[in-house]
Amino acid sequence: ACSRVRRWELSRPILRLRPGPRVRRIFARANMQIITTVAEMRTFTRDVQARGRSLALVPTMGALHEGHLSLVRHAKKQCDVVVVSIFVNPTQFDSREDLMRYPRDLEKDLEVLRPFKVDAVFAPRAEEMYSEQFSVSVEPGEIAKPHEGASRPGHFRGVATVVLKLFNIVRPNIAYFGQKDFQQVLVVRRLVEDLDLDVRFVILPIVRDADGLAISSRNVLLSAEERKA
Ligand code: PAF
Repeated sequence: ACSRVRRWELSRPILRLRPGPRVRRIFARANMQIITTVAEMRTFTRDVQARGRSLALVPTMGALHEGHLSLVRHAKKQCDVVVVSIFVNPTQFDSREDLMRYPRDLEKDLEVLRPFKVDAVFAPRAEEMYSEQFSVSVEPGEIAKPHEGASRPGHFRGVATVVLKLFNIVRPNIAYFGQKDFQQVLVVRRLVEDLDLDVRFVILPIVRDADGLAISSRNVLLSAEERKA
């Protein structure tokens, strides 16, 4: 099935990920490479492959927290080179309001990643990932219909599509996902198996806050009352 990316989804406010001079300085200090284009990312991967080294991808939408960091820790242990992608994917949001509300702070994310010495962060702009002509999407099928799929129509189509794109661009040997997003994990597993993707994917347990709530990027938006509920 195909669906077009609506124009608002590619509008200005979601393009804030373009790194400025300060962010580039943070990267220089952290010894991480910042990669914002598909072409640069491919060159990076080709170089890693040519050196016979294994490559891990930790796909994220930023607002990094302990859940993401546990994925990064595992990736560092299991692979020679680690790439973290930070991309707030517009096609998995079903409303403009939700997309705009999603927390974004690339500078803070880079600071959080600094001690982990990841090799590269792939932070493309929306228009780098979705051209004006973009029209082909992955239809994830039955697994995506109940639960979150029912309350957020099109959400898992957007997830499956961007994950396939990220796998194709980064070409990791292993990709890391959190069990917190359980239905997403099932969708990605079908994607990998049904489309014969040459990537191993590792699922790691939920990381919880002291109050027992699963740590999530969106939970920074919750009030104390909402956290209790
Ligand atoms: O779980 C997420 O953060 C996102 O759904 C993912 C897998 C990075 C795709 O945008």
